This record gives sequence, structure tokens and C-alpha cells, in this order.
Amino acid sequence: MLSPERIMHRCDALARHSELPGGLTRVFLSPEGRAAGDAVLGWMREAGMQARLDAIGNAVGRYEGGHAGLPCLMLGSHLDTVRDAGRYDGMLGVISAIECVAALNSRKKRLPFAIEVVGFGDEEGVRFGTTLLGSRAVAGTLEAQVLEAKDAKGVSIADALRDFGLEPKDLGSVKRKRGEVLAYAELHIEQGPVLETEGLAVGVVTAINGFSRLRARLRGVAGHAGTVPMGLRRDALAAAAECVLAVERIAQADPELVGTVGRIEARPGAINVIPGEVEFTLDVRAPRDDLRQKAVSSILHAIEAIGKARGVALQTEKLQENGVAACAPWLMEQMDRAVAAEGLPVRRLPSGAGHDGMAIQAIADIAMLFVRCKGGVSHNPAESITAEDAATGARVLSRFIESFHAVPS
Ligand code: GLV
Ligand code: MN
Ligand code: MN
Repeated sequence: MLSPERIMHRCDALARHSELPGGLTRVFLSPEGRAAGDAVLGWMREAGMQARLDAIGNAVGRYEGGHAGLPCLMLGSHLDTVRDAGRYDGMLGVISAIECVAALNSRKKRLPFAIEVVGFGDEEGVRFGTTLLGSRAVAGTLEAQVLEAKDAKGVSIADALRDFGLEPKDLGSVKRKRGEVLAYAELHIEQGPVLETEGLAVGVVTAINGFSRLRARLRGVAGHAGTVPMGLRRDALAAAAECVLAVERIAQADPELVGTVGRIEARPGAINVIPGEVEFTLDVRAPRDDLRQKAVSSILHAIEAIGKARGVALQTEKLQENGVAACAPWLMEQMDRAVAAEGLPVRRLPSGAGHDGMAIQAIADIAMLFVRCKGGVSHNPAESITAEDAATGARVLSRFIESFHAVPS
């Protein structure tokens, strides 16, 4: 029996593993991440799975099929969060998948394929600025040089893995081969307002928008806030402010495009000092890769011009880029049927947010099921879903799993 109370209760329980007192922040390879992973491994075992932490810190549970060693249907989502996060983004998908396996296990039912549930250790990319580390390791697309990326304290991913008790040289063991994974399916909150607006509990995802992430550094001249006349300043923060508005203007030019400066840091950061150095991040997304790439070049062009005009040196660095990830038509059809079997209207919609399927697509076709969230709010502690919608999502996912056919229909 699927238990929506248990799903909601477990989302609450994971939210307590946080570095932010009174809120939720849980980044990759942190003590809180370890505690959340351990809790999830325990729930996987309770649901009849063999469970382990893999070499990148993903929590992986396996429920064998009719006989041991069959290829798997992979399910899951992520266990890391943004800063001051909600408690459903990522976690709901992992917990719902475990709930579906628990329901199978309670009936002692085995399917003609294995099920693996993965709680990916990093999807948000908050700590190291580069995303999808858990799922890229599973897909075998995590290049060795990525391990040199450092967090704000200068700790590299390789060192963080060691501090966590993992060995970077074992990362190859995380990689799964095409054929071992029949398909990947993820349940996730919508993070947008479409389902709520249309009065629908769930929707079937068609594609995940592509993204580009960059970092820009502006170097002006720090100076005395009282003595340097306005006309003689090379204020890096004023230049950055103009850059932020340029990003907004360029992204507003097309309704399919979004552009965000999510983090900005001014140095030296004192009330009476003209900022000499600024670093900011840039996140650009679109449902078409050409549109996104064109926008990124327009933005770079615009901010270079701003830097030049203000005598501020600009340096940019591409952090990560991912093209649009389309969900597989044969899997969308199976998900549509699972929705319809619950007596619900089938609504297909794209995803503006990124998901682990973007990486897993390198080894398997992907599908996603969205669950309505209140006001479309996410990446915010106000993120909220109802137990009824959690139940509906889990029932649809369960139907999808139990009627899954690996051969494209
Ligand atoms: C993850 O939530 C992302 O889309 O950045
Ligand atoms: Mn997120
Ligand atoms: Mn997410």
C-alpha cells in the first residue's frame, strides 16, 4: 500500500538534515548530506532493497526482478538542496520511488526487470558551481578535471570526496553502461504554475530546457568612498549592476528565454570603499539550444562593452552547458497511460528547471512526471505540496513502473 503520510513525513524528516538553523540548506558531500543519505539508505532497505552509498556519494537501492542481475528501470532524483530551500525539490522523487518499491515488496511482487532507486548527491550544484555531479558520474560523463572545481572555502571536489570517506579514483565504479539501465524515470514537483492554474495534480514532461552557467569577474579600482569624485571612479559593482540589467534586457527579448544573475559578491565589501572587484554568476536557459547560445553571446558582447566603457576589466568563464534533454516518446506514452489509468487528464508540459535526467540521458532514455506545487513556488522555503497530490503522483509512478515495457511501443 502506498502511504502518502509516510511520503510527507519522510520529506519532513529529511528537511531536518540542514546546515541552516530553522531552514533547509544541504549541499553535496556535507555532514547533512551524509545524514540524509543514511536515512534514505535505511528506508531503501526497509523497502526490500539492497542499498549502498556509491563512490560519488549517491544513495543507491536495488530491488531485483524475477531473477538476480536483470537490467534495471532506474528511478530517482536528488538529495541536495539550494540555499534556504523547500523540502520537496528532489527529495519527493526519491521518497516516492522508494514508496513504490515498498508497495511491490509488501506484495512480494517481482517484475521482469530490476528497479534501482538513486538519491543523487548533487543536482543543484550549489557547493561547487557545477551541477549534476551525481548523475554525471552514473552516466560516465564526469570528466576528471571537474574534480578540481573548488568550493567557496577552496576545497576541491576530490578533497571533499576524501573528507567524506570516498576515493576519487573509484569514481569509474559508479558509471553504468547503456543496456544495464532500460530507462530512467523521475517524479519531481513542477516548480512552475501550469498544473495549478489548470487544476491538474500531475503532468507528463516533454523535455528539459537547456542551460548555460557562467562566472564573470570585473576588476576596477578600489578607493575611498568619500574622496574619489564620481567621474574618476572605476567602480566594479556599478559596472556589475549595469551588467545585471543587460542580462535582464536580453533575456526579456524572447518569451522562451530566461536569464538570471543569482549570486554577486563585491570586494572588499565595506561601506566606505568603492568596490574594486566583483564576481557574479550567470544562468541562461531556453527550450531551444540555438536561442540560448545566441542569448549567451549577446550577453557576453553587452557586458564586455559595459566593462570597456567603464574602464573595468572583464573576465568570463563558462562553468557548464547542457543542451535541451528531450523525454523519449515511447516513455511519455507509457507515462500518459499511467496518468489516464488513474482517471486523470493527460497534460504534457516542458520543464524549465534542470533535472538529473539531463545527465542520465547519455546512457538511457528518460521520462519525468511532474506533481503540482503550491503557487508554482520552488527554491524557496515556502515550497509546498498537498498529501493528496503526493499520493496521486506516487500512484501514477507506481502504475508506470508496474506496466513498464522496455521495448519502445
Ligand atoms: C535545479 O533546480 C536547476 O534547475 O538549477
Ligand atoms: Mn532545484
Ligand atoms: Mn530538483
